[in-house]
Amino acid sequence: MGQDTFYVTTPIYYVNDKPHIGHAYTTILADVLSRYHRLLGDPTFFLTGTDEHGQKVQKAAVANKMTPQEQCDTTVTRFQELWKKLEITHDDFIRTTEDRHKNVVRTILQDLYDRGEVYKAEYSGHYCTPCERFFSKKDLVDEKLCPDCKRPTDEIIESNYFFKMGKYQSWLIDHIQSHPEFIQPDFRRNETLGFLRKPLEDLCISRPKKRLAWGIELPFDKEYVCYVWFDALINYITGIGYGQDAAKFAKWWPASYHLIGKDILTTHTVYWPTMLKAMGIEQPKTIYAHGWWLIGSDKMSKSTGNAVNPIDVAEKYGVDAFRYFLMSEMSLGNDASFSEEIFITRYNSNLANDLGNLLSRVVKMIAKEAGGIIPAPVESAQTEYEKELRETVLSAVFEMEPAITGMKLDRGLEQIMNAIRAANRYMEQTAPWKLAKEKNTDRLSTVLYTAAESLRIISGLLYPVMPGKMCEIRKAIGLPETGMEIFELKTWGKLSPGLKVSDIGSLFPRIEVSKDDASKSAKSAETVAVAAEDIIVIDDFSRIKLKTAKVLEAEKVEGADKLLRLQIDVGGQKRQLVAGIALFYKPEEVVGRTIIIVANLKPAKIRGIESCGMLLAAKDGKTLKLITVDGGEFPSGASVG
Ligand code: MSP
Repeated sequence: MGQDTFYVTTPIYYVNDKPHIGHAYTTILADVLSRYHRLLGDPTFFLTGTDEHGQKVQKAAVANKMTPQEQCDTTVTRFQELWKKLEITHDDFIRTTEDRHKNVVRTILQDLYDRGEVYKAEYSGHYCTPCERFFSKKDLVDEKLCPDCKRPTDEIIESNYFFKMGKYQSWLIDHIQSHPEFIQPDFRRNETLGFLRKPLEDLCISRPKKRLAWGIELPFDKEYVCYVWFDALINYITGIGYGQDAAKFAKWWPASYHLIGKDILTTHTVYWPTMLKAMGIEQPKTIYAHGWWLIGSDKMSKSTGNAVNPIDVAEKYGVDAFRYFLMSEMSLGNDASFSEEIFITRYNSNLANDLGNLLSRVVKMIAKEAGGIIPAPVESAQTEYEKELRETVLSAVFEMEPAITGMKLDRGLEQIMNAIRAANRYMEQTAPWKLAKEKNTDRLSTVLYTAAESLRIISGLLYPVMPGKMCEIRKAIGLPETGMEIFELKTWGKLSPGLKVSDIGSLFPRIEVSKDDASKSAKSAETVAVAAEDIIVIDDFSRIKLKTAKVLEAEKVEGADKLLRLQIDVGGQKRQLVAGIALFYKPEEVVGRTIIIVANLKPAKIRGIESCGMLLAAKDGKTLKLITVDGGEFPSGASVG
């Protein structure tokens, strides 16, 4: 059991934006981490919210003939309703227009001003309205475009207030270098350190009201409001009581994780730490920047209209399947690609075929062969099969904890999928239907119990990712919906014999894709050029053993124009192979080449000649070219993939 506090945050989303799968991803990730930490027994606090000040809201309010506050109150519900729909269990939702936030921001500003951390100066800069950020000329692309969004910036000269960020540069570099966990993944830490190689300038933290009135007024100058990022970052402490409830703040701060997307790295790893330092507040433990969801290989954007609405996916395929997909498909830190094809492939393979199938066969078997009651296992009837499955399932439990604490969620989920596949294999190996026929009751009871106990543990392990569906599995094997503490998952045999199973129907009905649909949407996703049913998962591919082979001898097959008989060397082993390349290559042209073969293909007789393997060649109309190894000499028998 853990007892460390766990405090996790998401970025606060611009209230005016329409939520897309990128927003849903970070929030689901925070939710899954929180749920796991709660299961581990860690006191947990999960904060999300909305960023409500700034130019975009002001503009939208004018366009909609509302006050900016009314505009925020209208659009904030998009996020609040989405989180409800996606079963997000945040402990608080902070809005930057709430008094609890604004009052504390004002106190902080006054304090920094009083202590000389903030000063007034004339400023000339290039402002990007969509990003709400100033850039100096040297940062611009082509001398005028925003380095982040590549849209034109406006040159502005005005008096403003500045935070003395520059003076913290060497402290920040030291802090980052001496706390390797502070910015994660490692390559993002290097990115920030790279940014800090240039002199760090002071940060403009005000906007004159004549240009932007929708913000927190500076307590020491009524003509200005606070820069939206300076206001927004402070949510991470006002949301847990800073300046209002000292005990609450002391309980949760420092944050365990600020989860962010890679595009807001600088604001979080340069602005925020220096602000905290000036306020005299401890640094968060880890700022974790995840990658982006791409559509095919394109960035999601309003202008191309390719943003995926999370509600649409969740409504079409189910909330739990959507949560599972996002968590398993993105390897934390890297970009990932979203398309309906990729979604359906993973859904059908992991959820419908592996997990759904396991539940249905176990429940059906118990209903048919054990009167619907989970039987007691018999000690003397245990075999190696039970031992092996038990070990695989428990190793998934033990590997999940480091996967969570080490932010390797996708790998943890892969282990659980392995356990599910192992349980399906176990059903085939032990064949309980045969045991029933043979009236081998002891073995039958042991097998049915072992399979049901695996399901108990697997459903507990997957509960933080798919809470609704995992409760259904528990119900199906006669368990109450609660009581899934992780320590019970670490102990095999907690499932009480005698529980009544119920058939809950298909947990994840297979998604059938017509060829038409598949090719239509494949076109829209551009990068996925194959129909959904043709897509394979890595496990399928890894069954094919490709190897390099050297051609030793070649000759024509008598009476067959198209065939060459090749003698090849595969890592010191000689093999014979028959290939349909005689119309394109003379025997002497292939001798000495290093080709690629499928090494584990079942041997076959072609024109009465044994062929062990198949060579790879590319064919386009009437041309055929052998696939060979690039460059000079290369050993034969090397694996290809
Ligand atoms: N309001 C600021 C954050 C202030 S935090 C103190 C903001 N808001 S945002 O709504 O524009 O973006 C919120 C998050 O969504 C960012 O972490 C951003 O990286 C993330 N995403 C935006 N597009 C994304 C993808 N395509 N994929 C994954 N996440 C992406 O920035």
